[in-house]
Amino acid sequence: MDFVEARNLPGHVGIIMDGNGRWAQSRGQPRAAGHREGAAAVRRTVRLARRLGLRALTLYAFSEQNWSRPEEEVDALMQLLRDFLLGEREEILDNGIRLNAIGNLGRLPALVRAVLDPLRRDSENNGDMVLTLALSYGGREEIAYAARELAKAVAAGRIKLDDVTTDSLRSHMPSLSVGDPDLVIRTGGERRISNFLLYGLAYAELHFADVLWPDFSESDLFAAIGSYQRRERRFGLVGAAAAADAAAAAVSSPIESALAAVTGAITRIAI
Ligand code: FPP
Repeated sequence: MDFVEARNLPGHVGIIMDGNGRWAQSRGQPRAAGHREGAAAVRRTVRLARRLGLRALTLYAFSEQNWSRPEEEVDALMQLLRDFLLGEREEILDNGIRLNAIGNLGRLPALVRAVLDPLRRDSENNGDMVLTLALSYGGREEIAYAARELAKAVAAGRIKLDDVTTDSLRSHMPSLSVGDPDLVIRTGGERRISNFLLYGLAYAELHFADVLWPDFSESDLFAAIGSYQRRERRFGLVGAAAAADAAAAAVSSPIESALAAVTGAITRIAI
């Protein structure tokens, strides 16, 4: 049986889902087949994240740069996205999940917007987990957007130049409305960030896994969380002060709070 510690779960996990193309190629199949299996891995991962009690899960589903892929592949991805949103709609609504989307959503085709927008609206009062899909998303683009918003406010005299701070920038970044990512996982063997959540990554723990995204399983998520739980996060401070700050800021998951209340002891969640 697999275990993760019920305490010290990452509140916000981001995932760079890489390796769909290679998964398909190694089987002599078209890239779209890899994306289809990738969508199945998304379903499994969302369910598991919800069961674990993660507060927020952000998935890098389509980057601003991905528009330059062959039209056939882009179309297949958009269709998969639509199918995913339609297929998961009831489960998302019934399980307290709020569906959120970040990125240049205006570039998405109508066939996606027609299912994305109603689900965002219908799930907006759900509070158990926020599932964010990064679609047509770029971290640099998001920073530029926030900078433009603040520049407009300064130009209009609504704020002063000195009001341009790290916090005011963050307040204009939709990716951080659920807080900074605690843990970012990248599958597929590459060790890079590829324009994902750049601003929020400042103190995130990074976990690189060789598994190709379509093969990403429960045990891969547990391995990533286990690795996170064995690290000491210092946020630029020294050990004891950082630990005290982190404890004060810690957001408990529902499972964690319930178990801690019952046992008052270090608890492990068996999955
Ligand atoms: C990277 O693999 C993956 C993507 C560009 C898209 C991710 C999409 C999915 C997981 C499926 C659909 C998403 C949802 C939310 C239903 P790659 O094609 O770059 O792989 P490679 O590096 O092996 O070529």
